[in-house]
Amino acid sequence: METVVSGIRSTGNLHLGNYYGALQNFIKMQDEYNCFFFIADLHSLTTHPTPANLHGNVKQVLIEYLAAGIDPEKATIYVQSDVPEVTELYLYLNMNAYLGELERATSFKDKVRANPENVNAGLLTYPVLMAADIIIHKATKVPVGKDQEQHLEMARTFGNRFNRLYNHDYFPEPFAFSFGESLIKIPGLDGKGKMGKSEGEGNAIFLGDTPEAIRKKVMRAVTDSGPTVENQQKPQEIQNLFDLMKVVSTPDTLAHFDELYNKMAIRYGDLKKQLAEDMVLATAPIRDRINAIANDADYLRKVAEMGAEKARESASRTIREVREIIGFRKF
Ligand code: TYM
Repeated sequence: METVVSGIRSTGNLHLGNYYGALQNFIKMQDEYNCFFFIADLHSLTTHPTPANLHGNVKQVLIEYLAAGIDPEKATIYVQSDVPEVTELYLYLNMNAYLGELERATSFKDKVRANPENVNAGLLTYPVLMAADIIIHKATKVPVGKDQEQHLEMARTFGNRFNRLYNHDYFPEPFAFSFGESLIKIPGLDGKGKMGKSEGEGNAIFLGDTPEAIRKKVMRAVTDSGPTVENQQKPQEIQNLFDLMKVVSTPDTLAHFDELYNKMAIRYGDLKKQLAEDMVLATAPIRDRINAIANDADYLRKVAEMGAEKARESASRTIREVREIIGFRKF
C-alpha cells in the first residue's frame, strides 16, 4: 500500500485554504492509503512562538484535524516534535543541501522580503526538514496546496541525492497530490493573493469562525464597481470571489451568478451574501465538532500518544537503515 504523508504548521487556526488545499484530501485518502498526518510544530519555531502559544496552537490543530474528520483509527495523527527521528534525518539531509538552492526557494525569498530581521538558519533549511518529514516514512504521495509544489520538488532532490551518494536505491520519490487535475490555491478576501494566516486581518475564513464572523469578513471583501460591458473578463478580486464560490457553493449557484455577471446584472452584495451563507453551511459540521471535542483533554492525549507511537515505529525503522547505509556501525 502506498504511503501518504502531510502536515500543517501549528501557527494558528486552520482556514479554508488549509481545508480545501490539504485537509479535505487527507480525509479522502485515509481509507485507501497508509496515512501519516502530523502537526508541524518544529516548522513553526522559525517565528519564535512563546511556549504557551506553541502548545495552544498544536492543540488547536489537533482538535481541528479530528473535527474535520481525520480518523485516528485509520490514519496516524502525530505531533512532529514527538518523533525525534525526523530531526536526525534532517541533519543527515542538511549535509547535502546547498546554500544556493536553499536561497533560491520561493518561500525563503518571500519570507526574507516579509521579515528581513529574522532570516534564521531554520528558515533557510525549512525545505530540508520538510523533506525529512516526508521521506522518513518513505511516502510517495503528499496531499498539499499549490504553494508547496516547489518544496516537493526539493524533497525529491534531497532524497535522490542521498540515494546517489550512497549508491543505494533507498528513498522513493514523493509527489504533491490532489484529487483534481491540479493542485489547489484558495484565494483570500483581500482581492490579492492566496488565503493565509499571515496575509492580514480579514483575509482568511477560519474553520472555527462563528457565522457572524464569516458574514462580516465576506461582506467586507474587496470588489470593484461592476462590469461595464457584457461578458467582461473578471478582474482578480472578483474572480477570487467566484473561485471561493466554486468550492463552497453548488454548481447551479455559481452558474447563476456567472450569468448575472456576464449580463452586467450582478449585485455584489447578493453574491457576497450567498457566498457567506454557503461558507457558513460548509463549515457548520466542523465548527460543531470543534466545540464538542475542544475540552476533551483525555481523548486528545490518547490520540497524540497513539499517533506518536505509530509514527516512531515507522520512523525508527528508517533511521536504523539510514544509519547502516551511512556507515554508523557498532564495533
Ligand atoms: P502550511 O501550514 O502553510 O499549510 C498547510 C497546508 O495547507 C495548504 N494551504 C493552501 N492550499 C490552498 N490554498 C491556500 N490558500 C492554502 N494555504 C495553505 C498548504 O499547501 C499545505 O498543504 N511546509 C508546510 C507544512 C509541512 C508539510 C511537511 C507539508 C511541513 N512538513 C511535509 C507536507 C509534507 C506548510 O507550511 O504548510
